[in-house]
Amino acid sequence: MTQNKRILVTGGSGFLGSHLCERLINEGHDVLCVDNYFTGRKENIRHLLGHPCFEVLRHDVTFPLYVEVDEIYNLACPASPIHYQHDPVQTTKTSVHGAINMLGLAKRIKAKIMQASTSEVYGDPSVHPQTEDYWGNVNPIGPRACYDEGKRCAETLFFDYHRQHRLRIKVARIFNTYGPRMAEGDGRVVSNFIVQALRGQDITVYGEGSQTRSFCYVDELWRASSGSWPPRTSSPGP
Ligand SMILES: NC(=O)c1ccc[n+]([C@@H]2O[C@H](COP(=O)([O-])OP(=O)(O)OC[C@H]3O[C@@H](n4cnc5c(N)ncnc54)[C@H](O)[C@@H]3O)[C@@H](O)[C@H]2O)c1
Repeated sequence: MTQNKRILVTGGSGFLGSHLCERLINEGHDVLCVDNYFTGRKENIRHLLGHPCFEVLRHDVTFPLYVEVDEIYNLACPASPIHYQHDPVQTTKTSVHGAINMLGLAKRIKAKIMQASTSEVYGDPSVHPQTEDYWGNVNPIGPRACYDEGKRCAETLFFDYHRQHRLRIKVARIFNTYGPRMAEGDGRVVSNFIVQALRGQDITVYGEGSQTRSFCYVDELWRASSGSWPPRTSSPGP
């Protein structure tokens, strides 16, 4: 039997966060979902409201947060280009200030912390498939930089908190993940394909159709989330 823990999930009312909250509750943990509802929806967590192990707090992670928990999953950040390019300065702040605030909290309360990073840290990669020792090829001044560089800086902060303060960290570079509760109109490839198929429309394939993507079903992403941690993680080196 797993030990009951108090777990903070930032971005908990988003697509991935709501599945994580659900899974952690089912495993017997107490979950505090923190979200500013920029892209998250109350609908995503409605079925969890009223559960004795579930609490929700409207909060923006760019501001400090003082709570007592055993573990933190830091997912707060808009993930689709339409949303993260809407207010790029806020996107960078969410990744960087959000990481600083959550790492500071983890340090103070000696909690383990996981960062939802992204395959976008590889930018426009020249290596396929990407391995964790490949450092990427990111344009630091383009319209996607607010997301890519924000996530890269968050990774730097996570590893420096580990080296400098011995914080227990995990960084998961998530690739395209799909499943129920994906937002219909956020322009991601799987939701685009499904919506166009359901409407009987032509399916849009950009360019010459020779691109490759790695896809992951949401249950697979969080399969190993409790006790151990999610798959596809970078553990800090010595
Ligand atoms: N879904 C994917 O394929 C994928 C791939 C790579 C990385 N990720 C990462 O996983 C995390 C979750 O992605 P998702 O697909 O569930 O996206 P999502 O947009 O559905 O969820 C993000 C959540 O963060 C919240 N949020 C945004 N800014 C915030 C802030 N300043 N303070 C508090 N909450 C804030 C949003 O309201 C939303 O609920 C993100 O960090 C994203 O970068 C997702």
